[in-house]
Amino acid sequence: MKKKIVALPGDGIGAEIMDSGLKILNEMIVKENLDFAIEKCHFGGAGIDNEGDPLPEKTLEACAKADAILLGAIGGPKWDNAPKRPEQGLLALRKALGLFANIRPISVPDAVVHLSPLKEENVRGVDFVVVRELTGGIYFGEKELGENAASDLCSYSKIEIQRIIRKAFEIARTRKKKVTSVDKANVLSTSKLWRKTAEEVAKEFPDCQLEHQLVDSAAMVMIQKPKEFDVIVTENLFGDILSDEASVIPGSLGLMPSASHSEKGPSLYEPIHGSAPDIANQNIANPMSMILSVAMMLRQSFGLEDAAKKIELACNCVMDKGILTKDLGGTASTSDFTDAVLETLKSQ
Ligand code: NAD
Ligand code: IPM
Ligand code: MN
Repeated sequence: MKKKIVALPGDGIGAEIMDSGLKILNEMIVKENLDFAIEKCHFGGAGIDNEGDPLPEKTLEACAKADAILLGAIGGPKWDNAPKRPEQGLLALRKALGLFANIRPISVPDAVVHLSPLKEENVRGVDFVVVRELTGGIYFGEKELGENAASDLCSYSKIEIQRIIRKAFEIARTRKKKVTSVDKANVLSTSKLWRKTAEEVAKEFPDCQLEHQLVDSAAMVMIQKPKEFDVIVTENLFGDILSDEASVIPGSLGLMPSASHSEKGPSLYEPIHGSAPDIANQNIANPMSMILSVAMMLRQSFGLEDAAKKIELACNCVMDKGILTKDLGGTASTSDFTDAVLETLKSQ
């Protein structure tokens, strides 16, 4: 039966890298004879401009009915003072679809090991996953903004913590079986409940190891000894910050894909970075984050492991040839890089 993919290009480089992702996806559709239909919808700033809301009703309906969703990136200075910012649309979409588990893999392709700002011996072979809780915590608590005071409530229910910790263990089971739960349990109540719940859930996974780290020191260890990690599980805000920090290991945010899963319903695949207004409309963004998000979609939503591997190999093969975008010190444009990946796929 035909599978429906909703594509949300969004804003800034979102639209540029979505073009790249869809070119690669369309090539795979032909190559692997996939019965996929792709529908593009407005979202973020493009939703505001075209339909008056960052998450137009039509877009949400299409996403809810889809088999998977691809998102470029949203936001930009144009909408910073909009009554409803693009970012609110993104949070509303995650909440509406129950996308509580955000999976952000971090690895370093051999071709770029020497480009990392960190020591090569610490970077070669890095392979871990940040499992970020995505629909709770301070992002979604009650907010107040006054002239002289403001507050954001951070709250987590036990159920919300249990399901994300379980997800982390399930992933660890397919890997090196080590879960590092990152919190601030020396200060925060939510972290105290988080840590206690992690201990309880760990009992369901006796084949796996659980360790706890405080977020401040985890941020340091991630740079100093990134090979120590297998699966990091953490709350929404810590996961946001730590995963951008993790992009320093391979050397660019433009390399980082992600997947967001719910308990049932479509998953969403998106780069971890934003709309990069500083480089938008110049055809210089690194499209790897989007192309690898397409690969994650094929693997995780459709079980197409071979197709996903082909895309990942083609990207690595292109980088091995020294075809690199500006963020990695190269001169290839977004479209040069995409075309090189396409050519590689065609010749496979
Ligand atoms: P950003 O992630 O957009 O950019 C940070 C830096 O990384 C910039 O220097 C940018 O040029 C660079 N960068 C990011 N992606 C790149 C790529 N593919 N290739 C090369 N370089 C890349 O963060 P920001 O500038 O703080 O935020 C810009 C806007 O994006 C804001 O409105 C923010 O809210 C939004 N945002 C959206 C998402 C999302 O859509 N999921 C994620 C993060 C930020
Ligand atoms: C991300 C982004 C979003 C977040 C923003 C744009 C709301 O930074 O996807 O990492 O903080 O979750
Ligand atoms: Mn972020």
